[in-house]
Amino acid sequence: MRVTELLTFALLQASAVLSTPLDERNGKGVASKRPNHPVRPHHPKKCMPASPARKKTCTVNALGDGKDDSSNILKAIKKCNNGGHVVFPEDQKFTVGTALDLTFLKHIDLDIQGTIQFTNDTDYWQANSFRHVFQNATTFFQIGGQDINIYGGGTLDGNGQAWYDLYAQDIYILRPILFGLIGAKDATIEDLKFRYSPQWYTLVANSSSVVFSNIDIEGGSVSKNPAKNTDGWDTYRSDNIVIQNSHINNGDDCVSFKPNSTNIIVQNLICNGSHGISVGSLGQYPGQVDIVENIYVYNISMSNASDGARIKVWPGNSAALSGDLQGGGGLGSVKNITYDGMVVYNVDYAIEITQCYGQKNLTACNEYPSKLTIEDITIKNFEGTTSKKYDPLVGYVVCSSPTVCSNISIENFNVTSPSGTDEFTCANVEGVDSQVNCVGNGTTGAHS
Ligand SMILES: *[C@@H]1O[C@H](CO)[C@@H](O)[C@H](O)[C@H]1NC(C)=O
Ligand SMILES: *[C@@H]1O[C@H](CO)[C@@H](O)[C@H](O)[C@H]1NC(C)=O
Ligand SMILES: *[C@@H]1O[C@H](CO)[C@@H](O)[C@H](O)[C@H]1NC(C)=O
Ligand SMILES: *[C@@H]1O[C@H](CO)[C@@H](O)[C@H](O)[C@H]1NC(C)=O
Ligand SMILES: *[C@@H]1O[C@H](CO)[C@@H](O)[C@H](O)[C@H]1NC(C)=O
Ligand SMILES: *[C@@H]1O[C@H](CO)[C@@H](O)[C@H](O)[C@H]1NC(C)=O
Ligand SMILES: *[C@@H]1O[C@H](CO)[C@@H](O)[C@H](O)[C@H]1NC(C)=O
Ligand SMILES: *[C@@H]1O[C@H](CO)[C@@H](O)[C@H](O)[C@H]1NC(C)=O
Ligand SMILES: *[C@@H]1O[C@H](CO)[C@@H](O)[C@H](O)[C@H]1NC(C)=O
Ligand SMILES: *[C@@H]1O[C@H](CO)[C@@H](O)[C@H](O)[C@H]1NC(C)=O
Ligand SMILES: *[C@@H]1O[C@H](CO)[C@@H](O)[C@H](O)[C@H]1NC(C)=O
Ligand SMILES: *[C@@H]1O[C@H](CO)[C@@H](O)[C@H](O)[C@H]1NC(C)=O
Repeated sequence: MRVTELLTFALLQASAVLSTPLDERNGKGVASKRPNHPVRPHHPKKCMPASPARKKTCTVNALGDGKDDSSNILKAIKKCNNGGHVVFPEDQKFTVGTALDLTFLKHIDLDIQGTIQFTNDTDYWQANSFRHVFQNATTFFQIGGQDINIYGGGTLDGNGQAWYDLYAQDIYILRPILFGLIGAKDATIEDLKFRYSPQWYTLVANSSSVVFSNIDIEGGSVSKNPAKNTDGWDTYRSDNIVIQNSHINNGDDCVSFKPNSTNIIVQNLICNGSHGISVGSLGQYPGQVDIVENIYVYNISMSNASDGARIKVWPGNSAALSGDLQGGGGLGSVKNITYDGMVVYNVDYAIEITQCYGQKNLTACNEYPSKLTIEDITIKNFEGTTSKKYDPLVGYVVCSSPTVCSNISIENFNVTSPSGTDEFTCANVEGVDSQVNCVGNGTTGAHS
């Protein structure tokens, strides 16, 4: 975007906010102002179109006592679709016990000021949640369509404890993802709290031109069974996405770029307890082509995590991470990825690049080198300290053959282990030994 375009864009957005009508006819819901947090400091290549003002307001009132509010929610959304504003008032708790297909949205604002909690009827949801093929993903609802703004300062609560406990008994259950953005174009999701997702918090699939800003993610198990696979965001078959200004307290990838994620900016995140900002896993499905391209990750604080910057690719033949996660043999490319600015604290590896994801036996992995190329990767301006886990190592940069990885560069890397060392395991990456302190070549240092 040129400066003039940026200005026009900002003015359009400002006028959209000023002219939002506050319709309080039923005396209950008071519409919030659309927040429109600016995308900064980095901008996506394509600019996000302005969203016209909404002309009517529909208020949903909760039935209370855990009664299913789904049909009233659906009614209000249908009534206010095509130019309206749906208010979920503050201090009201809504219960959703029905899978809602909201892929018909157009020119609508969902103003979630209260709390929406999903029921923990694990039998119902396993039979009725939306199935998305990739990694057996399922979602409580699916939101899609065009020109959608969701905000309001409220909470979406996945009520995950029943799921954490059930997963400990049976890893093949299908745990719903809290927020499914499926087939959305021109959307903003801002100022919301996501709590206790049964699995990943957010799946962004088949979507383009979407901004997430000021999302607060937190949840965890109170029993001995951990809340597993609780990725903050997973992008899939999606383009032109921004994820920014958010706080994530979870137990798996903070953000993960799954197959066919392109033109994505991730900036100003505070991640705690995660598995890092990850490209992949990729190459899971034999014969399929996975592309991850043009990603800029800027200004991340990463604490208590397994990784900081991570690229994980399955090997050239089949492997298994666990009973419910197996793969290998896929093709594709990872290209033009920049990680610029990360402060790590108590992170096992500050940087991890592996093409043996899911295969602990490196001999077996290297017999079938990955068919997925990794090129034009810049990792720069890292500081902080790792955990004791791999001390004296602080990173692992291992490709499965020299022909599949090129132009990987690590600059201004100032991360040390608790014992003060800065060692890396490196293999098959040209020039890496002049950038970091390589001490071994893949036969030392485990990958996760
Ligand atoms: C995305 O679109 C493709 C092609 O239309 C479809 O097969 C798939 O089910 C959609 N959803 C997801 C989550 O990929
Ligand atoms: C999907 O689930 C089936 C069984 O429910 C399991 O065998 C398979 O490994 C799962 N696939 C993935 C990719 O997780
Ligand atoms: C199911 O959800 C309800 C409502 O939040 C809660 O009272 C109940 O304890 C939950 N049950 C389990 C097993 O988590
Ligand atoms: C990803 O993009 C590639 C290249 O366009 C295509 O061959 C592949 O089918 C896409 N994969 C998915 C899951 O959509
Ligand atoms: C980096 O992100 C933090 C929030 O995590 C924010 O407070 C700070 O202003 C950002 N710095 C820059 C230079 O954008
Ligand atoms: C980070 O996560 C740990 C648990 O892993 C928790 O004890 C701690 O309070 C979290 N820190 C913040 C700032 O939320
Ligand atoms: C590389 O990715 C960045 C960030 O998305 C983008 O600004 C840049 O134009 C891309 N470079 C090329 C050559 O496509
Ligand atoms: C890391 O985790 C510890 C406890 O496990 C917690 O005290 C600390 O606040 C966490 N650090 C950050 C920055 O969240
Ligand atoms: C690792 O793989 C190699 C080659 O397939 C095999 O010979 C070896 O027995 C495997 N090692 C273990 C510990 O499984
Ligand atoms: C190496 O990759 C960076 C992006 O990470 C790119 O800017 C640069 O042009 C690439 N260099 C070559 C020689 O391709
Ligand atoms: C590296 O970080 C340490 C603190 O972690 C700091 O004292 C030192 O000045 C930094 N070095 C460089 C070259 O930035
Ligand atoms: C690692 O180093 C050993 C000993 O120098 C060598 O035999 C082996 O081929 C190297 N492996 C890789 C993957 O570079």
